[in-house]
Amino acid sequence: MKIQLGIKPLSEIKDGYLVLPVFEDDKKDYGVAIIKSFFSEYPKFGKLFETQILYSSNSKILLIGAGEKQKFDFATLQNLSGTAVRKLLRKTKSLSFLLPKDTKLSEEEKTYAASLGAEIGAYDPTKDYKSKHEPSMLTSVEFLADRAERGLQEGLKKGQIIAESVNLTRRLGDMPANLMTPTYMLNVAKKIAKENKLKISVLDEKQAKKKGMGAFTGVAQGSDEPSFMIALEYTGDIKSKDKWAFVGKGITFDTGGLSIKPSASMNEMKYDMTGAAAVMGAISAIAKLNLKANIVAVMAVTENLPGGRAQRPGDIVKTYSGKFAEVLDTDAEGRLVLIDAVSYAQKDFKAKKVIDLATLTGAIIVSLGDHITGVFGNNPAFTGKLVMIGGKFGEKMWELPMYEEFNEMIKSDMADITNLGHGGSHKSAAGSITGAKFIEAGIEEGTDWIHLDIAGTAWDMKPKPYRGAGATGVGIKTLVQLIQGG
Ligand code: BES
Ligand code: ZN
Ligand code: ZN
Repeated sequence: MKIQLGIKPLSEIKDGYLVLPVFEDDKKDYGVAIIKSFFSEYPKFGKLFETQILYSSNSKILLIGAGEKQKFDFATLQNLSGTAVRKLLRKTKSLSFLLPKDTKLSEEEKTYAASLGAEIGAYDPTKDYKSKHEPSMLTSVEFLADRAERGLQEGLKKGQIIAESVNLTRRLGDMPANLMTPTYMLNVAKKIAKENKLKISVLDEKQAKKKGMGAFTGVAQGSDEPSFMIALEYTGDIKSKDKWAFVGKGITFDTGGLSIKPSASMNEMKYDMTGAAAVMGAISAIAKLNLKANIVAVMAVTENLPGGRAQRPGDIVKTYSGKFAEVLDTDAEGRLVLIDAVSYAQKDFKAKKVIDLATLTGAIIVSLGDHITGVFGNNPAFTGKLVMIGGKFGEKMWELPMYEEFNEMIKSDMADITNLGHGGSHKSAAGSITGAKFIEAGIEEGTDWIHLDIAGTAWDMKPKPYRGAGATGVGIKTLVQLIQGG
């Protein structure tokens, strides 16, 4: 899709649709007669994402409700743009969207939000799988501003770069697990590495086992598909020794293993690799934006299957950290692959700031629902900064506590730690926190670490006006912004 900036008055829009956001409590009719008469008939128009098409002899207009002016923020604009695109995708070749004025967003944030939202709205997960697929008509989107202010072009570009990563992550997430295998993921990683001049290192199962990643390979051994620990490295700050790590859970399908899941909704476990896809998307966007930082993205990629060689409940594995872990539930596999992945990032890549993303626990959905990502960490200033950035850019987050008391809940009678939390008055007491605690057992002294539990936010089976159903690509915006300095 072609996305560009238009510096011109509304009267010059002749082709395609003109899209006008309408605040509930601050309506402008732009001196256009049909808009004026529509507002006099429907004075309450303007609720968030409600739409109305108006035609006159010389114009086609789409009005979109922008809600209350005071609540307008980055996410509102992103989603208004997505709504416009989704509404008009099969109606027109081009649209011109008027960027709202007098908001608290900078010019750069406006075009960033708008171009990102447009690309997200245009994405269709069924494109490759429906034999009678109705293609979209829309090929050109223009964002209208009064003057060529500083930042407008930069924002437009940033939005397109991030959208490319977000939509790649969504595409990988939505792909069924028979196609999106660990080998497929590896091939995508190789392509991303080549495109962005990133260094790639790959451990196959044999090499990972030899290195001592017993927790990762314990999960991997249940599947006949080859598994990989993949690392992509970006060096954007040669003079500095500082290194970030983004670590992603890449379970391409989670059956639960021998602790098998019930069949209802098991299909959704194709999304259990969205953490890995997001860290790959983030490092690729950061490389394209040429940001000044050094980053390694580590992806622990395997299926979790109950094959003949699958690990059993009660198995004890030696993690790459040196600690022994008792596997009391083979369905708590995310923390197993991640404890080795975070050790890999610290030991082999010398990362001192580690952020992991994982669809780790069903319990986080019980706690926070479908719209908020759970945050855990060992440095309140670091987690606080991330939560703040997430909130500003429309990825809501909430930090959960990591008190000492929870350490007891992952102690094992037989080994050092166990992957199944226990000791609470309820069998799944503090389920998301004990998951985080297990990963923390692989964090070394002096490493700042954050764990994001994206189980509730990584996909959404309900279509929204601004985004179709499926993977969301959550996390990428926040990671990129963190590296850009907040
Ligand atoms: N991938 C799941 C978590 C999940 C569940 C994500 C539902 C999204 C929706 C994870 O591997 C898992 O199965 N976790 C278990 C842990 C438990 C056995 C301690 C869970 O949440 O039930
Ligand atoms: Zn599981
Ligand atoms: Zn899982």
